[in-house]
Amino acid sequence: MSNKWTEKQIADLRAEVQKGMSQKRFLHTLAVEEMTDRLARLFGCERREEMCVAAILHDITKECSVDEHIALCQKYGIPDGEHLRLAPKTFHAQTAAALIADKYPEFADETVVNCVRWHTTGHAGMTLEEHLVYLADYIDMTRLFPDCVRLRNYFFDAEPQKMDEDERMLHLYKTLLMSYDMTIRALVDDGAIISADTVIARNEIAATLRKMQ
Ligand SMILES: [Fe+2]
Ligand SMILES: [Fe+2]
Repeated sequence: MSNKWTEKQIADLRAEVQKGMSQKRFLHTLAVEEMTDRLARLFGCERREEMCVAAILHDITKECSVDEHIALCQKYGIPDGEHLRLAPKTFHAQTAAALIADKYPEFADETVVNCVRWHTTGHAGMTLEEHLVYLADYIDMTRLFPDCVRLRNYFFDAEPQKMDEDERMLHLYKTLLMSYDMTIRALVDDGAIISADTVIARNEIAATLRKMQ
């Protein structure tokens, strides 16, 4: 694993992040960091440290109001408009990614920023690091929604640690497809807006699976 940052820098980052969110959100953040670490080890990711830092930073603007998001969008040149009011939940990934360079410049590493930027919607051409932070956010141990529990059990009950590399990647893609399908289904049921990035990410995963099987 690369050692870009000291343990103290990372502990200080956690403490700083904790100040800006509720205790519930912070416990989720720690659980996502733990799950990210577990998944990164399982898949032998060299950028495990960057992925864990992304996990710490992924929801730093999640509790902002729509007006606060609008202000952040204006400050960082993120196009907002009506879309923000219609689908405010997806904006925290963009505003959090933009905030890193400003508020935590020593952590403004490309992998960190991209894992944060795409942790909610996904997008075309996702990297393994981005996939795993996305998944960690979905299945962290604090998540008790039936879909999250189902997905966590699906992934770990198959004992991916015993699989060879190809089987493990196939299993990851199956798990990711399930997660996108559950998300899209829930959004459809709510009559909510689905980000085009999510549809593209889902279709790429489905296409990759077809080629793998
Ligand atoms: Fe999030
Ligand atoms: Fe999250």
